[in-house]
Amino acid sequence: MKDGIAVIGTGVIGGAIVNSLMKSGYDGKIIATEIDLEKIRGLEKLGVTITRDNKKAVKDSEVIFLCVKPNSVENVLKEISSELEGKMLIYTAATVPLKFCKRIVPKAKFVRTMPNIAILVQESFTAYCCDDSVTQGDKEKVKEILGVMGIHMEVKERYMDGITALSGSGPGYISVIIEALMYAGLKVGLPRDLSLYSSAQSVLGTAKLVLDSGKHAAEIRDMVTTPGGTTIEAIYELEGGQIRQALMRAVEAATKKSAKIRKQWGINEL
Ligand SMILES: NC(=O)c1ccc[n+]([C@@H]2O[C@H](COP(=O)([O-])OP(=O)(O)OC[C@H]3O[C@@H](n4cnc5c(N)ncnc54)[C@H](OP(=O)(O)O)[C@@H]3O)[C@@H](O)[C@H]2O)c1
Repeated sequence: MKDGIAVIGTGVIGGAIVNSLMKSGYDGKIIATEIDLEKIRGLEKLGVTITRDNKKAVKDSEVIFLCVKPNSVENVLKEISSELEGKMLIYTAATVPLKFCKRIVPKAKFVRTMPNIAILVQESFTAYCCDDSVTQGDKEKVKEILGVMGIHMEVKERYMDGITALSGSGPGYISVIIEALMYAGLKVGLPRDLSLYSSAQSVLGTAKLVLDSGKHAAEIRDMVTTPGGTTIEAIYELEGGQIRQALMRAVEAATKKSAKIRKQWGINEL
C-alpha cells in the first residue's frame, strides 16, 4: 500500500504509530501533526513531513490516523470535516463510539481501534471495529497498517469497553506484576538486574508459550507444578492473596469506568 497517511496528534501513541510505519519500511507519504512541532522535530530527519496544519494534512492524505485524547476528538473532527469526506479515519481514542464520529462527519468512514503501548515494540494487541461504510477493500488497508504495530483483530463495538480495560490498559497491570516480581527477587537476595530480567523474560516467555502452543494457561501452570515441589508453595500463597479476584475486579472496574465515560458522548446504545 502506498496511500499517504496523516497522523494527527503525534504524542505517545501517534508517535509510536509513525515509528512503526517507518520501521516497517512503509513507502507511502507520512504526515505527522502536532501543536508543538519541536516535540516531533526528530521525525523530520526520518523523512516524515511534520506540520501544525491538520486540515492540509488530511487533504494531502488518503488514510488518517487520529491519536488525540478523547476530549479533543470532537474539535479536531469539526476542524478537518470538509477534507475528510469520503476518506477513512482510524482513531485510537478510548471510549469514543463510532456513532459519535459519524454524527460529526457523516460522509467519512470511521475505524475505531484500541491498541496498547506495546506498539512501541511492534507487539500491540489492537482490536478494531468499523462503521458500515468501511468496505472490504478499506479493511484490507486497515489490516495492513495495524499489522505493522503488532497483532490485530476485528471485534464487535460492544466489546470495546472490555478490550479497553483488558488489553488497552493491560501493559499497566503487567508492569505492576513485573515490578512486584522484581521486588520479590530482591526479597530473596537476587541482584536488581538479574531480578528484573528474570521477571520480565518470564512474563514474555509464558505469554509466547500460551500463544504459540495453543495450550490453556492452566496446562502450562500444571507443567511447572511438581507435586510437593517449590512452585506449589508459591501458588498456594498466590491463591491466598486472591490474585485472580484482584485482576478480575481491576478489569471490571476499568470496564465500568469506560462505559461511564462513553455515556458523556451522548451515545448509550452501540
Ligand atoms: N497511551 C496509551 O497507552 C493508549 C492506549 C490506547 C489508546 N490510547 C488513546 O490514544 C490517544 C492518544 O493517547 P496518548 O497517550 O498518545 O496521548 P498524548 O501523548 O497526549 O498524545 C496526544 C497528542 O496530540 C496532541 N494534540 C492535541 N490536540 C491536537 C490538535 N488539535 N492537533 C494536533 N495535535 C494535537 C497533543 O499535544 P499537546 O500535548 O500539546 O496537547 C499530544 O501530543 C488517546 O485518545 C487515548 O485514549 C492511548
